[in-house]
Amino acid sequence: MAQRPLITARDLEGVESPVIPRGAILTPLARDLLRKRGIEPEVCGRPAAASDPLVVGNWKSHKTLPEARAFAEELRAAARPGGVALVICPPHTALATLADALRGVAEVGSQDISAHGEGAHTGEVAARHLVDAGCRFAIVGHSERRHAGETDALVGRKLRRALAAGLRPILCVGETAEERRAGRAESVVSRQLEVLGGLEPARLEQVLVAYEPRWAIGSGQTPTPDEVESMLAHASAALARGADPAAAQRVPVLYGGSVKPSNAAELLGLPSCGGALVGGAALKVASFLGIARAAPGASG
Ligand code: PGA
Repeated sequence: MAQRPLITARDLEGVESPVIPRGAILTPLARDLLRKRGIEPEVCGRPAAASDPLVVGNWKSHKTLPEARAFAEELRAAARPGGVALVICPPHTALATLADALRGVAEVGSQDISAHGEGAHTGEVAARHLVDAGCRFAIVGHSERRHAGETDALVGRKLRRALAAGLRPILCVGETAEERRAGRAESVVSRQLEVLGGLEPARLEQVLVAYEPRWAIGSGQTPTPDEVESMLAHASAALARGADPAAAQRVPVLYGGSVKPSNAAELLGLPSCGGALVGGAALKVASFLGIARAAPGASG
């Protein structure tokens, strides 16, 4: 049975735009608090990403526990923009600590998830343990993992494990430089999105897609805004072809690959962009928030 996240009034204190995962259980006090702010809990229960852009930080293999705690303290103390949802994906070792330290400030996600359930799988971290550590999101199919040999089939299994546990998967897709040169960027992304085939609409709505051209990751290079928009629109259209169109429309498509404060407004402002997946620039509070502030509709 998937575990449904519990939202208490404490989780909502001081949070301008609460992120309430679909299916979450709200305590009576939390419901009252939302109603006083004129937010109908059912409306609020829609994925925040459907309306608010998401800025997701992928720390990769960076930061010790003291460093993660220091980041959380700084983020908590900083003036954060409203109208944008923040997610941090730290190394597994910092998940539980950060979920606690960032409560009401940002959500926490994993950078990967096991394709197996709990059991004799040495070194794997199962969905159940990620939920236990306070995760709400799980990145699947990041290009650094695909580069290490992950196939679409494996990514599809991981995605389903995440969904079954109530986690929102962030499915990364994107072409290599060679594939782009060969004019295959769109067909590669369409193929990678096929793992979403056959999902029930209610499940599909929980998914986020991150378009990350592999050659843009960590390189400082980005495609032109026109190229990004065309790929994001292509991903949205490909999603809609194979699935319930209304559910597919609710799947945010983020852009990732060398996003920084100086290019964030241009990228996040693209009509098809639902947010950003950020690596290097998510390691410092100032640059992470610099990106979040550039999101359209971000306030403060
Ligand atoms: P980058 O990484 O922002 O450092 O390019 C993005 C990612 O790997 O998700």
